[in-house]
Amino acid sequence: MNKFELKFSAMIENEAVLRVLVSSFLAPLGISDEEIMEVKTIVSEGVSNAIIHGLENDPNRMVEVRIELDDEELYIMIKDDGKGIEDLELALTPMFSTLKIEEHTGMGFTIMSTFSDEFDVKSAVNHGTEIHIRKYLHHYDNDIV
Ligand SMILES: Nc1ncnc2c1ncn2[C@@H]1O[C@H](COP(=O)(O)OP(=O)(O)OP(=O)(O)O)[C@@H](O)[C@H]1O
Ligand SMILES: [Mg+2]
Repeated sequence: MNKFELKFSAMIENEAVLRVLVSSFLAPLGISDEEIMEVKTIVSEGVSNAIIHGLENDPNRMVEVRIELDDEELYIMIKDDGKGIEDLELALTPMFSTLKIEEHTGMGFTIMSTFSDEFDVKSAVNHGTEIHIRKYLHHYDNDIV
């Protein structure tokens, strides 16, 4: 078992830091580049949602991320205590976005759940949002660890 718990300011620059951290965390495991890309995408979509939507880019507020690896089972939790999601079913619908700007296609949740084996979102208005993800890593070489 290898665990990480992180708290960082809700600044979009920190998304890049998390991507590097995830790469380093997974690099020694002997999994495919494709799976590394999938995990990086899950984390970067989840973290950017927490920063942009949940905490509205307020650098005084913190995003929390937990990453746990137990053999080939990867667990990821991303949490903010921000504004929460009013209609979760709608938010999970492909191409739904509350931000009406072109760069937000409303595909973040859809991409995250596609790349995950288990995907769960809990959210309460004015309390925040938590996403829980499980992903089973393949091509995992126990000899390397
Ligand atoms: N942590 C969060 N806190 C509050 N609202 C959220 C959070 N995460 C997602 N949402 C809501 O769910 C909607 C859908 O999220 P999703 O990631 O699928 O799309 P998006 O972020 O709008 O666009 P994209 O991810 O394609 O840039 C968001 O527009 C937002 O309203
Ligand atoms: Mg998003």
